[in-house]
Amino acid sequence: MSADTVIGQLTGPQFTRITGLGSYRPERVVTNADLEQILDTNDEWIRSRVGIAERHFAGDHESVAMMGAEAGRLAIADAGLQPSDIDTVLVATCTLPSQMPHASTQVAARLGIVAPGSFDINAACAGFCYGLAVASSLIRAGDAQHVLLVGAEKLTDWIDPTDRANAIIFGDGAGAVVVSGSETPEIGPVSWGCSIDNTETIHIKDRNSFVYQEGQTVFRWATSAIAPVAIDAAAKAGVSLADIDVLAPHQANLRIVDSIAKKVIAAGAHPDLVVIRDIVTTGNTSSGSIPIGLDRARAAGEVKSGDLVLAVGYGAGLTYGSQVFRLP
Ligand code: UT7
Repeated sequence: MSADTVIGQLTGPQFTRITGLGSYRPERVVTNADLEQILDTNDEWIRSRVGIAERHFAGDHESVAMMGAEAGRLAIADAGLQPSDIDTVLVATCTLPSQMPHASTQVAARLGIVAPGSFDINAACAGFCYGLAVASSLIRAGDAQHVLLVGAEKLTDWIDPTDRANAIIFGDGAGAVVVSGSETPEIGPVSWGCSIDNTETIHIKDRNSFVYQEGQTVFRWATSAIAPVAIDAAAKAGVSLADIDVLAPHQANLRIVDSIAKKVIAAGAHPDLVVIRDIVTTGNTSSGSIPIGLDRARAAGEVKSGDLVLAVGYGAGLTYGSQVFRLP
């Protein structure tokens, strides 16, 4: 073999965009009053400390793969595509019940997407922003044309129902987008990283364990470290904060959402920009929270196609990621 042999390189479109958006929330709604029946908690504490009024808990038939596939089906239809147009499936999740097979191949099977590249991303609650960066890069490299990116979680499989600190926060659900090539830049560069001093502050130790989190430590980190990540993502995209229409932070705690919004506004964003506050009726769905929140806001007419979104995810790891993109 010749040392001179050149390995051919694929090249994709210079730019990418989100072409479709969809979400799925489980049928069962669990209110704070419902939780008061089984836990030493109360509506006033939950609303004032976390901002949640109700969340959705998945039933037996609503698995990570099932919810992810339903969200994916809607996103593909929203993009005006068929499942056969999708060549890569990525699922961001940290709550799959089994190590194998991975969620992406299960979602592909449910949707009848034949032979896609498929792998999962576990960056916990930052998973959606990580996945968006990977999807965008795959397309720009020429390795994929239409990527289905899903954020899907069944957190109730991993929460101790008697642990009042965690059982009131988390919910189940899935959100999805289709990422495609574009003639104009509609997804900005990612600003991401992880805090290696805090790797254990949120964890599930092993298959017999539940979610553990040092709430106060994570709260302090989220309210100090995350707004600068979002501001950096806007700078990397060359976008003025004043031009951002929608701020879509991960929905971990309404007080954290409001703290991030305050800092982003103080840095130059418009005081009236739309801030996604879907946690109130969906709870914390980890990697699902950003696409679920955006899809619900779009359905409610609070945001519209073409709006410029600044999304920022953060969570276990501790991991964070942010980018600017335009809503489909
Ligand atoms: O999504 C991944 C990233 N995660 C986050 O960003 C979460 C960040 N952390 C938080 O959002 C908050 O720290 C929590 C919502 C997790 C907890 O809220 P907190 O205001 O930090 O409460 P705390 O854990 O400091 O507890 C304060 C008090 C304690 O009672 P004492 O010791 O002061 O008597 C708790 O036992 O509130 C008590 N408490 C509750 N009371 C009623 C804890 N959970 C509950 C509850 N109902 N469900």
